[in-house]
Amino acid sequence: MGSQELTTVAPDTLPLTVTWSTHIQPLMQFYCTSCHFTNETKNRNGDCDDHDMNLNDYDTVVNCYPDLYESIAIKQDMPPGGARRMTARHKALLKAWLDGGFAK
Ligand code: HEC
Repeated sequence: MGSQELTTVAPDTLPLTVTWSTHIQPLMQFYCTSCHFTNETKNRNGDCDDHDMNLNDYDTVVNCYPDLYESIAIKQDMPPGGARRMTARHKALLKAWLDGGFAK
C-alpha cells in the first residue's frame, strides 16, 4: 500500500526525479483515493471538479493537476474536514512532479 512507500522518501531532500509510480500514486492513495476512486471508469464525466474523478489514475491526475493542486495547496479544502492533511513536503513533491513533466 501507499503508506509504506511514503516512508522510503528521505525526509530532508526531494528526490532528483519525482515519478507517478514511486511518489505520486502512493500520495494519492494515502490522501485522496479513499474518497476519489471509481473502479469502473477513469473519470466518468471528464470533470476535474467532481467527486467521481479517479485519483488512482495517471491520466486523470495529470489532466486535473491544476484543480488538484489548487484544492490542496491554495484553497486547502482537500483533503476535507477530518481527513489527513497533506504535509508541506508532500506538497513539494507534487510541485516537483509538475516541474519534472509528470514523469511516470
Ligand atoms: C473524506 C473524503 C475526501 C478526501 C479524503 C478527499 N476528497 Fe476531494 N472531494 C470530496 C468531496 C465529497 C468532493 C465534492 C464536494 C466538494 O466540492 O466539497 C470533493 C471535491 C474535490 C475537488 C473538486 C474541487 C473542490 O475543491 O471541491 C478536488 C479537485 C478534490 N476533491 C481533490 C482532492 C484531492 C487532491 C485529495 C487528496 C489530497 C482529496 N480531494 C481528498 C471528498 C474528499
